[in-house]
Amino acid sequence: MVKFEDIKGFVFDLDGVIADTSVYHSKAWHQLADELGVAWSDDLAENLKGVGRMDSLNLILKTGGKENAYTEEEKEKYAAKKNTNYLSLLKNMNASAILPGISDFLKTLEENDYRLSLASASKNSPLVLEQLGLAKYFEKRVDPTTLKHGKPDPEIFARGAEVLGYKPEQCIGIEDAKVGVESINAAGETSVGIGDPKILHEADINFTDTTQLTLANIKAAMKVGEH
Ligand code: BG6
Ligand code: MG
Repeated sequence: MVKFEDIKGFVFDLDGVIADTSVYHSKAWHQLADELGVAWSDDLAENLKGVGRMDSLNLILKTGGKENAYTEEEKEKYAAKKNTNYLSLLKNMNASAILPGISDFLKTLEENDYRLSLASASKNSPLVLEQLGLAKYFEKRVDPTTLKHGKPDPEIFARGAEVLGYKPEQCIGIEDAKVGVESINAAGETSVGIGDPKILHEADINFTDTTQLTLANIKAAMKVGEH
């Protein structure tokens, strides 16, 4: 692992790291899966984390053996429908959806002059950040519509470092999705996984939830890794 002292930037995922929105994504996909006659499961929900809108729909269809059942046009309509459902779940969302410890963590990073960027696959991330009142921390963002590949490809996290003007080795990436951790690792950044260590076992550092996500804990974990 690189040295804690060499870290200058933090690249954040949004859904499931900064805010509790991954449950809304899940709910909206579950609703659509029911409509499409595809059985929902915890595994499917886990596999959808971090995956872009169209790729998520394709994964749901594949899981149900329906990958060839619809035209591209029909699929566009279903993806749009999911997004409408998702947006209606977001309607009353406010700062109370910020996950525990995140506001303090962001403040600490700012006070210590770290640069922050956003590496979310979600096209709704500008809206979500506004509603949470956290947009000011993330002036630097990767626009997912400009990417060729989704997570686990390194592209999004590599760009997350690039927009900060830092090398990947100078950055820590934070993720709750297995594909997200893989993307961080492939980009050459230090990965922090938030969630079940069995699922996120490839992360350099693992915290079971956001309350453990502090600069002191990251420093301690990286010091252990030096030995
Ligand atoms: C990711 C979520 O952040 O964004 C996924 O983890 C979601 O669940 C993806 O499908 C794309 O989001 P959106 O808002 O563009 O449909
Ligand atoms: Mg996520």
